[in-house]
Amino acid sequence: MCGIVGYAGEGSAKAMIVSGLRSLEYRGYDSSGIAIVKRGRLTVRKESGKLKALEARITDPDFDGPVGIGHTRWATHGAPTRENAHPHVSADGRIAIVHNGIIENYMDIKAELIRDHGVEFVSETDSEVIAHLIRLYFEDDLVLAVRKAADRLHGSYALAVVCADDPDRIVAIRRNAAPLIAAHCEEGGLIASDIPALLPYTRDVYIVEDGELAIVTKQGVELYDEDGTRMKRTRTHIDWDIAAAEKVGYDHFMQKEIYEQPAAIRETLARRLSKDGRILLDDLGLTKEELGQTDRIYIVACGTAYHAGLLGKTMIERYAKIPVEVDRSSEFRYREPLITDQTLVICISQSGETTDTLEALRDAKRRGARVLSVVNVVGSSIARASDHVFYTWAGPEIAVASTKAYTTQLVSLYLIALYMGLMCKTTTKDEAAVLIEGLRGTPALIQEVLDGQDKIVELAKQHYKKEKIFFAGRGMDVATAEEASLKLKEITYINSFAIAAGELKHGTIALITKDVFFFALATQTKLYDKMLSNVKEMKARQAQVVALCKVSDPRLSEAADDAAFIPDCSDEIAPVVAIVFFQLFAYHVARLRGREIDQPRNLAKSVTVE
Ligand code: M6R
Repeated sequence: MCGIVGYAGEGSAKAMIVSGLRSLEYRGYDSSGIAIVKRGRLTVRKESGKLKALEARITDPDFDGPVGIGHTRWATHGAPTRENAHPHVSADGRIAIVHNGIIENYMDIKAELIRDHGVEFVSETDSEVIAHLIRLYFEDDLVLAVRKAADRLHGSYALAVVCADDPDRIVAIRRNAAPLIAAHCEEGGLIASDIPALLPYTRDVYIVEDGELAIVTKQGVELYDEDGTRMKRTRTHIDWDIAAAEKVGYDHFMQKEIYEQPAAIRETLARRLSKDGRILLDDLGLTKEELGQTDRIYIVACGTAYHAGLLGKTMIERYAKIPVEVDRSSEFRYREPLITDQTLVICISQSGETTDTLEALRDAKRRGARVLSVVNVVGSSIARASDHVFYTWAGPEIAVASTKAYTTQLVSLYLIALYMGLMCKTTTKDEAAVLIEGLRGTPALIQEVLDGQDKIVELAKQHYKKEKIFFAGRGMDVATAEEASLKLKEITYINSFAIAAGELKHGTIALITKDVFFFALATQTKLYDKMLSNVKEMKARQAQVVALCKVSDPRLSEAADDAAFIPDCSDEIAPVVAIVFFQLFAYHVARLRGREIDQPRNLAKSVTVE
């Protein structure tokens, strides 16, 4: 959730850390801070608000040195104030820490530190206890003190620590989920919570595994396991470019990522489809026997990835005839799902670091399930904890609002469904060939939506002041409505609702008045007539209705106040194309409302807390 950067070398720690924090600001952006160690002295500066507020406070050249750590925060415990910002410092000002994650037992430790050691706390955070605990255990060995303190902490965390009395190194430790990456380059040693912070310096990084401790100095990176044994680790090569993590001429990352969808889908398909149309998924280890014995599949995910899962269910049940349930990760492990060793769990996650999904995965594995994950970030925690991984080659997604991750998740799930269907012989080669051709056509169809944006801009201009917007559809349009509504609310803050249109009359219709703006999704041919009735019901209550139809089937447009169109395609392909229309609608409405599109309030890109 929060972003961590650390540098130990001979150059300017301030410059290295600020540059790293800039590329991690998407992880959290309500406050930030930096601690610098120079000639046995520790100096800390912090500020609430965006990183630029901190940058304005650290312009003096005196605030710099060869070693330091920095943090950009997404508040969990305590308001986003300067006091609650990281780094947190021990009472004697000799040790500073930055923390990503949650310390579940901090109240007990805090009470003990106050009662037995007279420690005075200056923040409301859970993290501050860590600085005081390390100080309590520190004699002359920072590594030992960090280990002892870490043994007292319950929860999930990545920590980076510097100490004025051990001034040449950063000690970092990772437990239960929160990601941590280290690297060594010409400038020195680096540690960070995500790859973009390190990319300007190197493409070869060490993934710090769960439970490991890293020592970062200007000479290099050392990794140790929980018992203190030095680990040998080959570096992971990052093959995406820094330009992929920059805006390159677009006004926002979200806009850039929307435009990248044709290329991202092409890349995802190219990795999994041979030229002659064979699906290349044999490495997933889903054998015919295994699938034959699979009693059920659970798809587990959060937010946008959950919406992709809804469509994954439709496709797997349709093509592979295996029953599928879709669960929100945060609910899954608390509802005691019926898992046996014949159960397959599919986890979907862009970041591969979402704690709810990772913990659901671990729980499923403990109960005997096999886990296949559909993940975007290579080498992420979810990918590494899974039995099999299907990577969605969307490239780095920086904007908080997920776009290209979603459409690549959809095509990945479609391929998985087809592959399973072919293995189980519930799908014929001819049926598969039709869908594969459809998938191959999606980049061009999405390009048409991108090129024909005038209508979307017009609708955004007409409706951006509305306070209540509904999205309703049937069949595969329901997931699109859910995702469209999530996109709109997270970046515009408009109260938006999604509903399966048939449910309207069971209660929600009570909300329909002349002030409501209603999107009727009508891309599912066999459900057209049903949607027509829903549109009439909405019109009878004076809602302003815009229908989204396929260009070849505009019937609904006549009943609505206005209509917009997506290019002609099959009903199954429509969700992949239609969502791009709604991503753009949300984007343009957010622009007109003057919102912080890439960093909406209260949100963070990667949710590594439960
Ligand atoms: O990284 P993940 O795919 O696991 O993240 C899941 C959700 O947090 C994420 O999709 C979230 O809903 C997005 N902000 C939606 O745009």
